[in-house]
Amino acid sequence: MLVLDLGGQYSQLIARRVREARVYSELVPHRLSAAEVRARNPLALILSGGPASVYAKDAPRVDPGIFELGIPTLGICYGMQLMAQELGGAVDRTGVSEFGKTALEVETGAGALFAGLPEQQTVWMSHRDSVTAPPVGGQVVAGSASTPIAAFEDPERRLYGVQFHPEVRHTPYGQDVLKNFLYVVAGALPAWTAAAVIEEQVERIRAQVGSERIICGLSGGVDSAVAALLVYKAVGDQLTCVFVDHGLLRENEAEQVVETFGGHFQVPLVHVDAQDRFLDRLEGVTEPEEKRTIVGEEFIRVFEEEARKLGDVRLLVQGTLYSDVIESGGSNDGVAAKIKSHHNVGGLPADLRMELVEPLRLLFKDEVRRVGEELGLPDRMVWRQPFPGPGLSIRIIGEVTRERLELLRAADAILQEEVRRAGLYRDLWQSFAVLPAIKSVGVQGDERTYAYPIVIRAVTSEDAMTADWARLPYDLLETISSRIINEIPGVNRVALDISSKPPSTIEWE
Ligand code: XMP
Repeated sequence: MLVLDLGGQYSQLIARRVREARVYSELVPHRLSAAEVRARNPLALILSGGPASVYAKDAPRVDPGIFELGIPTLGICYGMQLMAQELGGAVDRTGVSEFGKTALEVETGAGALFAGLPEQQTVWMSHRDSVTAPPVGGQVVAGSASTPIAAFEDPERRLYGVQFHPEVRHTPYGQDVLKNFLYVVAGALPAWTAAAVIEEQVERIRAQVGSERIICGLSGGVDSAVAALLVYKAVGDQLTCVFVDHGLLRENEAEQVVETFGGHFQVPLVHVDAQDRFLDRLEGVTEPEEKRTIVGEEFIRVFEEEARKLGDVRLLVQGTLYSDVIESGGSNDGVAAKIKSHHNVGGLPADLRMELVEPLRLLFKDEVRRVGEELGLPDRMVWRQPFPGPGLSIRIIGEVTRERLELLRAADAILQEEVRRAGLYRDLWQSFAVLPAIKSVGVQGDERTYAYPIVIRAVTSEDAMTADWARLPYDLLETISSRIINEIPGVNRVALDISSKPPSTIEWE
């Protein structure tokens, strides 16, 4: 399934929803010609929404030849308007915009998209222009009070359109509409499962790696863990994992990596305890960008030293995700995606001259997790919240000393434990402790204290681009606060960060 991206904010979401229906989908530029589309032999096409008006001068268009291919095609919002405009219908600025939840009336017994669904339903709309005449041959199958043509179908030419957004959760039957399009109209089978992904990737990896040796850097995060396990499944002991412990990880994280990979899965593992190297170099450094640079550089140095010890290894595993590939605009070029520079810090050395093996290149994060589960990776690793490459060094404001690191690590462990106990760990994008560089006065056991505060940062988010502060229950906050203050000498106060992103960021630094 191909989603032709016409610039809508939900384009990626469409591709994800299709995959949730277990049909493999890719997001591709709308500029693909009809011949290019045909060459990729998709089962179906979706034209995404987009911010433009079809009448705008630079409005994105698709090759009209695409509509002649006989491939089932669904236009969503702008995509539907584009179809109407190109195929003999009409689009107008009627003066009535619809934004948000809207009541939809489905024609009785109409068509395939709404088969088996209620005639009255709520959908999510977001448009100014409206289709005022469907494409020639198209039959109107649903409407709303202000948009009489909210969906059309032309089974003969296999063309379909909906004005609303089936891909967002605010459209309760949206996923059913997509499934009707995929299964009923396009005849797709729900065959894209974690097991199928593993099988396919294992074959690809074998083909790329052959009989060569290959190395993989483990970070403790889910991406590198799943990438490593896939490669291990494919080529076994030809893989060596290198885990550089920079001493800036969360409590027990290093032990878990060593135990899971070296112990449980028996993957050949080099565990480099480089804590002193990193901490020595961070001595006296307070500027966050400088911390990032130091950790990044040192990481590459240690990694290279270890790689050299392994002899002549030419292949490197990298946990690039599909969202990185899309973001860098390289959805189809077969070369390494350019990852946001800060995401390389403490990740993989970008300037190693090695050929990359990227088994997660086609997967979204939630799919990586499902593959991880299928491969038997423990829940604790599969569901681990994201963690910055430079680790705790950037969550310590001011200087990173061994003492301050211990203090933050202990506070963070209490916070994690209580969040998990409250059953909220998976609902939060991230939850962690921050150690500011200030001290304040307190009183403990009749004695005056002068100690650090700990800041609780917990956010909800879809993709880390925007985030909201999590409304944690007061009882939970109380438990976290009193445990941290009572159990950690050197802390006499706990504060809660109630800023969203933007204008704040998730990390403090
Ligand atoms: P900010 O603080 O910019 O963070 O809102 C956005 C997301 O990125 C994570 N982050 C990193 N991830 N290497 C990473 O792999 C890094 O150097 C890095 N710095 C920030 C951060 O935790 C949040 O999820």
